[in-house]
Amino acid sequence: MIVRLQKYLAEAGVASRRKSEEFILSGRVSVNGEIVLKLGAKVDEERDVIEFDGERVVKNKKYVYVIFNKPEGCVSTVKDQFGRKTVLSYLKNIKERIYPVGRLDYDTSGLLILTNDGELTYTLTHPKHNVPKTYIAIVNKVPPKDAVFKFKSGIVIDGYKTAPADLKIIKKDEKGTVLKIIIHEGRNRQVRKMCAFIGCEVLRLKRVAVGNIKLDGLKKEEYRFLREDEIKYLKGL
Ligand code: URA
Repeated sequence: MIVRLQKYLAEAGVASRRKSEEFILSGRVSVNGEIVLKLGAKVDEERDVIEFDGERVVKNKKYVYVIFNKPEGCVSTVKDQFGRKTVLSYLKNIKERIYPVGRLDYDTSGLLILTNDGELTYTLTHPKHNVPKTYIAIVNKVPPKDAVFKFKSGIVIDGYKTAPADLKIIKKDEKGTVLKIIIHEGRNRQVRKMCAFIGCEVLRLKRVAVGNIKLDGLKKEEYRFLREDEIKYLKGL
């Protein structure tokens, strides 16, 4: 965020805003190595190096953890080279720069976690951490009998064997077959490719859980902040 220098100093606990202004005017504050003597200066909290009496002033970063029910028709990146709508356009009231943890396809809906906590992002996305992700998929036909076994034993997609995955048929009707699928990685279009391997085309795909964190009552396009117990759980994974 871009803020006035005196505001930054005050929020970092150097002194009150007024006192910080005095410090600036008396030449005790520098930004990126240059003493700032005017009061109008603004700083980029994430990039600029701010010093008071030669000592670095670091503001405690406020970590934000959000769970969002992504609709279809938007990308789960911060920017899109084709100018498509991004998930951030649904999260306008959040001041911190948050990023999606992993990705959902443009045409996949459901649970997406966003945060500015790089360490948690690492925990949740690294394959070695093995976090289960639960999907509900509507596919065009009933999977063959050996599909559950194939999911369990691993499927080779793009030259890589998937970790054991769960497949359960929830419902069959005229609109398609509803499957519950649990995978432990997050490779590109993994669920769609695994379903293609068993001869099924995914018509709709929604992520409903990451570990124990569930969408529950969260409606499409809505978000909420994660609770303390949820954050603690995710950090412990
Ligand atoms: N698997 C997919 O195929 N797509 C997603 O968006 C997530 C998992």
